[in-house]
Amino acid sequence: MIEQQLKETNNTVIPQHVAIIMDGNGRWAQQRGKTRVVGHKNGVESVRAVVSTARKQGVKALTLFAFSSENWQRPEQEVSVLMDLFMFVLTREVKKLHKNNIRFQVIGDISRFSDKLIKKINDAEKLTKNNNDMVLSIAANYGGRWDITHAAKQLAQKVSEGELSVDDITEQSFDQHTSLAGLPELDLLIRTGGDYRISNFLLWQAAYAEFYFTEVLWPDFKEEEFLKAMGCFDQRERRFGQTGEQVKEQK
Ligand code: IPE
Ligand code: IPE
Ligand code: MG
Repeated sequence: MIEQQLKETNNTVIPQHVAIIMDGNGRWAQQRGKTRVVGHKNGVESVRAVVSTARKQGVKALTLFAFSSENWQRPEQEVSVLMDLFMFVLTREVKKLHKNNIRFQVIGDISRFSDKLIKKINDAEKLTKNNNDMVLSIAANYGGRWDITHAAKQLAQKVSEGELSVDDITEQSFDQHTSLAGLPELDLLIRTGGDYRISNFLLWQAAYAEFYFTEVLWPDFKEEEFLKAMGCFDQRERRFGQTGEQVKEQK
């Protein structure tokens, strides 16, 4: 129904780059008297639904927050299940991503993951590197402050080696050293699970993104909910500092 509505209006504005904080797995499971990990397992189906819907709708980049740099503080058993799940899903889904012409990449500091998982990630990135329908970035051991610090360090290194001068450091060159370099600007940032914060996700990239918060818990966020968020984005007036009148004149 909603999909039809979106497709029927030809001038629907489709966000080029959507990011999602996939939150609420634990509560979803607890509401059903299950352990938190059951929620994580059920969340995988939502990932699949969102990837497929995004691609169908013509989204060019989809960035999903799977594991934050702060999530290591969770009970060891939960962290370990999350790692196993990541490994399992990667093994099972990469071929499908490849078949659908989706480029896959992981953003975040993966050096803390097991050698086996790192290899899986590298292989998946290599296999899909020339695909161009959509870029799927999974943020794992990711933190927005880490991303910014990492970019700053790379630039400092280049300056100290004489490869770059201080004046070459601009917003554009800084951006090129962040983990989503080369992708379209972030248009829409969604958070499921009812909290109103960005939990150290895309701090640099979210500068002019539209925010969409929903109470829906991640395992219940499927195609219909995603299209609702897209529909809401279509209604927003993005002014980028200008007045509403200026924006209307340019249309
Ligand atoms: C999000 O769901 C998944 C991860 C952070 C890995 P949560 O596990 O945070 O679920 P809630 O917020 O406790 O319900
Ligand atoms: C954010 O969710 C991280 C991911 C969805 C991977 P959290 O559940 O970790 O966020 P906080 O701790 O409630 O802010
Ligand atoms: Mg949470």
